[in-house]
Amino acid sequence: MSTANQEQIEYWNATAGPKWVEQQERLDAQLRGLGERMLARLDVARGARVLDVGCGCGDSTLAIAQHVGPGGTVTGADVSEPMLARARIRATGVANVSFVRADAQTHAFTARSFDCVASRFGVMFFADFSAAFTNLRRALVPGGRLGFVCWQALEKNPWMSVPLQAVLRHVDPPPPPAVPGAPGPFGLDDPDRIHRALDAAGWADVALEPVDEPQNVGGSRTLDEAVSFLLVSGPAAAALKGAPPELRARFATALRAALAPYVTARGVVIPGAAWIVTARA
Ligand SMILES: C[S@@+](CC[C@H](N)C(=O)[O-])C[C@H]1O[C@@H](n2cnc3c(N)ncnc32)[C@H](O)[C@@H]1O
Repeated sequence: MSTANQEQIEYWNATAGPKWVEQQERLDAQLRGLGERMLARLDVARGARVLDVGCGCGDSTLAIAQHVGPGGTVTGADVSEPMLARARIRATGVANVSFVRADAQTHAFTARSFDCVASRFGVMFFADFSAAFTNLRRALVPGGRLGFVCWQALEKNPWMSVPLQAVLRHVDPPPPPAVPGAPGPFGLDDPDRIHRALDAAGWADVALEPVDEPQNVGGSRTLDEAVSFLLVSGPAAAALKGAPPELRARFATALRAALAPYVTARGVVIPGAAWIVTARA
């Protein structure tokens, strides 16, 4: 696999991928709403050929397959072998879905072979955003459309910042804050950075829609489920990396206290905010 993203590829194969496979149903339950909003905005036509970038365990790929119908196709591209393995199992028997293990920044997709590029939280991990979006534009027919959803800044996403602040009090020394624009969940949190990347990559009609959507943390039904999810997923879990296991009970107590105000009849629900981005090749 030709690549410019070795660190992220290792992370998504060795560390995050297995966790996402383990938490697949919970993550899908949380992220499906924003994925559907992005697809509605992209307005994928029946019969379209769609590339799903950073398809992970395939939930978005299967959703797109429903939109395009049997006359269309969906190709899920991802760097994570464990996540692709789960995606392939889930898509067994679905004739119009295929998967490729590929770094979307550098992979030689056949030029002009897709009508749309879509991504549910799969385009924030590139080392070079303009190179990646240039590569993706070349895979589209002229006038083809791009649609993706990505997180706004951490401070606009209390569903991540509240648990993170709760555990940081117990982590010594705290991990350094991420460099703005570094590959990661907040790689495209800044609207100017999104515009710069897509403009440099030659996209037209770039539009950003800010979306405030409360997040049901890990598709939780109870406080316990939300706490167990956050101990393995998201920025709080990342901050706990390397902390001694005996501190786990203390982290869980801190998370329970921080999340308690957000318990609702349908689980732990905390404000969140994303960008839905569309553009034309
Ligand atoms: C936050 S997950 C989202 C997965 C999936 N779209 C979903 O919503 O469940 C990000 C995904 O992007 C993939 N990814 C990261 N860097 C990539 C790259 N350079 N090329 C293709 N996929 C990449 C990861 O392996 C992971 O599956």
